[in-house]
Amino acid sequence: MIKRYLMTPGPTPVPEDIMLLMAKPIVHHRTKEFKSVFKDTRELVKSVFQTKNDIAIFASSGTGAMEASVSNVLAENDTALSVAAGKFGERWGQIIRAFGANPVELSYEYGDFAKVEDIQKAIENNPKIKAVFMQASETSTGVFHPIDEIGLMLKEKFPEIVFVVDGITAIGAIDVKTDLWNIDIMITGSQKALMLPPGLSITSVSEKAKNMIAKTKNRYYYFDILKELASDGGSYTPAVTLIYGLNMALKKLLDEGLENVFKRHTLLAEATRAAVSSLGLELLAKKPANSLTAIKTPVDSTKVIEYMKSFGVDVSNGQGSLKGKIVRIAHLGYFDKSDILMAVSTLEMALKSSGVEFNFGAGIKKVMEIFLNEQ
Ligand SMILES: Cc1ncc(COP(=O)(O)O)c(C=O)c1O
Repeated sequence: MIKRYLMTPGPTPVPEDIMLLMAKPIVHHRTKEFKSVFKDTRELVKSVFQTKNDIAIFASSGTGAMEASVSNVLAENDTALSVAAGKFGERWGQIIRAFGANPVELSYEYGDFAKVEDIQKAIENNPKIKAVFMQASETSTGVFHPIDEIGLMLKEKFPEIVFVVDGITAIGAIDVKTDLWNIDIMITGSQKALMLPPGLSITSVSEKAKNMIAKTKNRYYYFDILKELASDGGSYTPAVTLIYGLNMALKKLLDEGLENVFKRHTLLAEATRAAVSSLGLELLAKKPANSLTAIKTPVDSTKVIEYMKSFGVDVSNGQGSLKGKIVRIAHLGYFDKSDILMAVSTLEMALKSSGVEFNFGAGIKKVMEIFLNEQ
């Protein structure tokens, strides 16, 4: 027998009470009962997103909402800035091109983060830029971009530009203030810090973004944001079961208190990063996110990950050129201190079994000390 522990940055574990709720019989989506849950869920999303903006929920993975934001905001031949510092940032450029628009791509090395002055300069050099697309947390490298500074700069200098942020591994884990930071479209997916199975994308849409969408000659059918916003229970058949699960998941986060949720994620991230440094290893991220930790490995990380898997601990490899070079340990969503104890101890065993020379036990000792001080 092997007991599995899912520690990848999505999908993430789902709490038992949410799974049990989702095992209940299906309710029809055009009933009063469902419409009331749907309405309540949209309100709960607003609290977790820290926004007053309207909420669109699609049955899709997170990429569906990325595509919706591009296809609704941009018309063919429009120009937009896309910030790429990893696999998911690069996806913005690909989607923009797929819809016949022109991305001005601001690229950074993997591990680096976006700089507000670079974004300002890129827009000054390309006055046709209509929207800025970027990540909050770039999951392929574990970086957190300064979306607060960027949003405030855009508000001051380029108030007509629509700011679109992929918060797929940030919402529910990191304190991102959608309205305060001038984020017109904020996106997340169900299978990350919202502690649900994959299948929902959730998007907040500002009045400014809605006006831009209404004025744009865009191309889409299913991903019609304005139609979705105008519906009272989803424009097509919504993912009923997941909406019930989302309702419960959001209530769980709000019951814990967003501040406590962010503190828990900070503690787990800080303990993981402290372990990495005690082991003499390096982080990939120059500005790490609190939702996952990307660790450079001195040996092929594929072997390290396989070893950890033999203990039932599932962590992620690097993507693209980072494959074999890093291990990504997630701590977003339904995660607590014991998860980190397990991840760090199995990581140390994996390194030891691969012949890496290091102070064996230093990482787990550090984590234990940090958690002891927290009690
Ligand atoms: C930051 C970020 N953006 C986009 C995606 C793509 O989401 P999905 O796989 O749900 O389409 C992911 C998935 O890991 C992600 O972490």
